[in-house]
Amino acid sequence: MWVLASLPAIAAPRTYELPEPTAALRSAAGRESGFEAAQANCMTCHSVDYIAMQPPGKGVAFWTSEVTKMTKVYHAPINEADARAIADYLAAAY
Ligand code: HEC
Repeated sequence: MWVLASLPAIAAPRTYELPEPTAALRSAAGRESGFEAAQANCMTCHSVDYIAMQPPGKGVAFWTSEVTKMTKVYHAPINEADARAIADYLAAAY
């Protein structure tokens, strides 16, 4: 036990400055259903940051393919109607 007692305090607490995670999706006027569908379906596997860090103004084609990728590649269980509403909402909000 003398070995442990002579070790420096390697477990001393350290603090790191991490960027504040984006807590919530942005709302978009007139896109409430897509907003709600995104809240229900797009925050289960990863944080909002994955959405928020995309370059702005990518448009509905980009977001449609993102949503399709989430369902086809990562098996997100999102129905057609919700997927369309989400892509439309994301194109308006981001
Ligand atoms: C079943 C889990 C799951 C769900 C649900 C999910 N995603 Fe993802 N998403 C992932 C994974 C896995 C990645 C890739 C992570 C990585 O590469 O580090 C990802 C990455 C992303 C990215 C980063 C760009 C990219 O293509 O890798 C965006 C944007 C994104 N997701 C948007 C969405 C949106 C919008 C929704 C809702 C429609 C959603 N995600 C729902 C699993 C999910």
